Amino acid sequence: MKITPSILTADFCRLGETIDEALDAGIGWLHMDVMDGNWVVNRTITFGPALIKSIRERVGSDVFIDCHLMVTNAEETWEQYANAGADLVIAHIEAVDDFPKLISELHGSGVQSGCVINPDTPIDGLLPFLSELDLVLVMSVVPGKGGQSFIPEVEGKVRALREAIDSQIENGGRETKLMIDGGIKDHNAAMVAEWGVDIAVVGSGLINEKSTIAENLVSITNSLEI
Ligand code: DX5
Ligand code: ZN
Repeated sequence: MKITPSILTADFCRLGETIDEALDAGIGWLHMDVMDGNWVVNRTITFGPALIKSIRERVGSDVFIDCHLMVTNAEETWEQYANAGADLVIAHIEAVDDFPKLISELHGSGVQSGCVINPDTPIDGLLPFLSELDLVLVMSVVPGKGGQSFIPEVEGKVRALREAIDSQIENGGRETKLMIDGGIKDHNAAMVAEWGVDIAVVGSGLINEKSTIAENLVSITNSLEI
C-alpha cells in the first residue's frame, strides 16, 4: 500500500521545506486538499490552483500530484487544477451533477479522473462509471480538516469497492486505484491495507510536531510489514 501525505497539518509558512522533506523521505505522490470555504461543513478555505502551480514548479514532473476538490463547482474549476499541473483530479460525487461528463473532460485533457465519496455516501452512485475512473477515494473522516478520528464503519464500502475493482480487472477492465483518506496512522494502516486499499492519504500521521516525516513514514511502513 502506497502512502501519500496531505499537507493540511503543515506550517503553511514553511510548505516548500515540508514538501522537500517529504520527497527526501521517499514520498512520490502529493495529496492536495482544496477547500473553497463553502463545501465542507466547517467552511474551511485551504488553497487554490496557484499553490498547485508553485508546487509543480518546485517538485518537477516526476512527482505525482492529486487534487482532492472539496468545492461546490468542481465541474467548472477542474481545468484550473489540470492547467496548474495536477496529474489526477478527485471530485466529490456529492458535489457533481454529471460525473461521466467530468471524467471524459478530464481524460480529454490528459488528466486522470477520481471520484470521492463521504463516509456516509453509499457506493451505488459511482458503480455505473467505476470502469471509467482511474481512482476511487473513500473518506474515512468527514471532509474539512486534518487530525480527525478514523471512521471504521467505512470498512464494508472499501471491501465492496475492492471486490468490484478486482472483478473489473479480471474482465480486462481499467485498473482503478482504491484510496482511503482520513485518520490513517501506524496503528490502523495495516488494517486498511488488508481491506484492499492501494493508496492511503496520511496527514497528521506524517506531518506533525512530534517527529519528522521520515520517522513517521518508517513507522507506518514498518506497521505494514508486521
Ligand atoms: C480532510 C482531507 C484529508 C485529511 C487527512 O478533509 O481530505 O486528506 O487532511 O488528514 P489526517 O490524516 O490527519 O486525517
Ligand atoms: Zn484529502
